[in-house]
Amino acid sequence: MSIFRKKSIDAILSESGKKTLTPTMKTIDLILFGISAIVGGGILVLTGVASSKAGPAVVFSFLIAGLACGLAALCYAEMASAVPSSGSTYTYTYLSIGEIVAHNVGWVLVGGYLLTAATVANGWSGYLKTLVTGLGINIPEKFTKLPSEGGYGNISAICVVLLITFILSKGTSSSKNTNNILAAVKISIVLLFVIVGVFYVSPENWTANFAPTGFKGVMLGATTVFFAYLGFDAISTSAEEAINPQKSLPRAIIITLLICTAFYIAVCLVLTGMVPYHKLGIGNALAFALTEVGQTKAAGFISLGAVIGLMAGVLSFMFAGTRIGYTMARDGLLPKSLTKTNKNQVPGTLTWTLGIVTALLSGFLPLGQLADLANVAAIISFALVSYSTIIFRNTNPDAKRGFRVPGMPIVPIISIILFVALLASISLTTWLILLVWVAVGTVIYFAYSYKNSKLK
Ligand code: ALA
Repeated sequence: MSIFRKKSIDAILSESGKKTLTPTMKTIDLILFGISAIVGGGILVLTGVASSKAGPAVVFSFLIAGLACGLAALCYAEMASAVPSSGSTYTYTYLSIGEIVAHNVGWVLVGGYLLTAATVANGWSGYLKTLVTGLGINIPEKFTKLPSEGGYGNISAICVVLLITFILSKGTSSSKNTNNILAAVKISIVLLFVIVGVFYVSPENWTANFAPTGFKGVMLGATTVFFAYLGFDAISTSAEEAINPQKSLPRAIIITLLICTAFYIAVCLVLTGMVPYHKLGIGNALAFALTEVGQTKAAGFISLGAVIGLMAGVLSFMFAGTRIGYTMARDGLLPKSLTKTNKNQVPGTLTWTLGIVTALLSGFLPLGQLADLANVAAIISFALVSYSTIIFRNTNPDAKRGFRVPGMPIVPIISIILFVALLASISLTTWLILLVWVAVGTVIYFAYSYKNSKLK
């Protein structure tokens, strides 16, 4: 049984050669694209939760998660420059490790992207509530609480996901200009928070209890805020649209991560300096902190910016999930019918199937659980990219690469070690859910994909 059969680099190159993307993105466009994908629910929604776990030492959580992502990003840059394909980790694993692993990675990746979109939608509903409450409209609690808490579920999160699924099914290509505007909105709200909030910092909030839960708390925080960096992989997948990708891609990845890390650290310092950390375990901590110090107008602007910016996040992660699902179906690993496009040239059945799953996830799972699951899926996928980079260097030493990871194999190995350390803080429930998901993927592989794979 050839469950470890591999795709060849020539097959992938000839598939991607059929595409007709025109390179239009300069380094600055790639950076703005990266910022618009990365900055979102992580900093706006989860920072408060992580600060309540790690205290002001949450800045170290951000540094650790940022370092792990930075090293993995270098590996992504090498793979993306050698294998220009929209399948991302799924394709890299198909090439370097083999089909059954690629199938399960693709399966986890689709789930991971949908969970990321669901997490952002869930966080979005928190900011929507703050915004409309500020305008004097009250959303009844029954429509925001989970059934386990006596509510009907997070109805506004479900509605936003279905609205975005509808937009995606009509065919929307994220344009460079839209991305740049969204990046500007996100940068503005982060800067607004820092500039207004810095005047209300009381250093005793930092010094009273800097690391209340010690190193363990910092690592726990790092696993949560890891979410804030998800999306950097999107830059790598623009390899075919970048001008001079050999230089612009790695440069853009590194600059984007540095900018985001700097933003995140500034936000954490100001946030934990404004309000005692134990008050921050809520979904809209930035607006809350500003309201606490009487800056209600600034809080309103941040909520408005978050509502706009986070919708874009839901869209881009749902789009990414659909793209991986489509690539898998095209390879015969998922039913061919899912590749059928509608009159807008969009795989309609696939888009709606994944949209409904995302809506249910965002409406009926708690925010923390959604983020944990999205993080595990991403950590596993990033670790596999680092591993694939080592394998691919050995098996295809002469493949044309636009960028090479320096210090091979030390850099990917360090990133893998950091990922394993982050995984150590994941709860048992999250592991169990993941195991069930992978088991379902494996059953589908043997029942369907193995026989229908294009490689057969
Ligand atoms: N990094 C993305 C966000 O924080 C997933 O929304």
